[in-house]
Amino acid sequence: MAVIGIMDSGSGGLSVYREIAGILPGHRYIYYADNANCPYGTKSQEFITGRADAITEHFLSKGADAVVIACNTATAAAIAHLRANYDIPFVGMEPAVKPAALGTRSGIIGVLATAGTLKASKYLDTRDRYSGGIKVIEHVGEGFVELVENLELEGPHAEEVVRNSLQPLIDAGADTVVLGCTHYPFLLPLMKRLAPKGIRFIDPAPAVARQLQRVLAAKGLDAAGNGSGLELESSAPSRSLAVLAEISK
Ligand code: DGL
Repeated sequence: MAVIGIMDSGSGGLSVYREIAGILPGHRYIYYADNANCPYGTKSQEFITGRADAITEHFLSKGADAVVIACNTATAAAIAHLRANYDIPFVGMEPAVKPAALGTRSGIIGVLATAGTLKASKYLDTRDRYSGGIKVIEHVGEGFVELVENLELEGPHAEEVVRNSLQPLIDAGADTVVLGCTHYPFLLPLMKRLAPKGIRFIDPAPAVARQLQRVLAAKGLDAAGNGSGLELESSAPSRSLAVLAEISK
């Protein structure tokens, strides 16, 4: 049985937790939502790195064997620093530009992510490595994180907010859309309803879960144990955390 810390700026990382729990049951998962500081997407790299440090220390004090940075923004800002400073494995989010580039038929892919992710060298390097011969259109999912934190996953306001960022990608000819923020998969049912048929959405969470499985296997910790499942912690009271954790089971 392993003790796994999972962090995000809020409830979005639960979209990663549900993939992890699906293939790695029986472990102890401590999920930390830093919702007092949400959103991370507009914060500085120094600020996010400081929070990632503090939350990592907290996980270590609880005996964590590995930490999942279930946040694209925090991965881009802090994972290199974390790996250099702590002696446990960190698994982060990878923007799914590669599978999108391999699968597109129109030769145009869209990436939805936070402003912080889209300007980070981690994202830019990945994009440049895998986007040869195709066009990549990027858009901030403006207001998406707030919709999820407010549990506003449907309705006219949510539709308007989601359409404002999704439509420009579709208008530009994208047939594949990368979900580059862990909050966004909770809006996937709405996005699928608003997008024309045949648009493919790619969520990297299943690949992240498989990477954690490999990391645990390398430490001999992947076998299911009698772990207590999910423990929720947050830096501020949150209703969305409990509700989204329930639907992520
Ligand atoms: N869920 C996060 C991500 O994957 C952070 C969103 C935010 O706090 O801006 O980028």
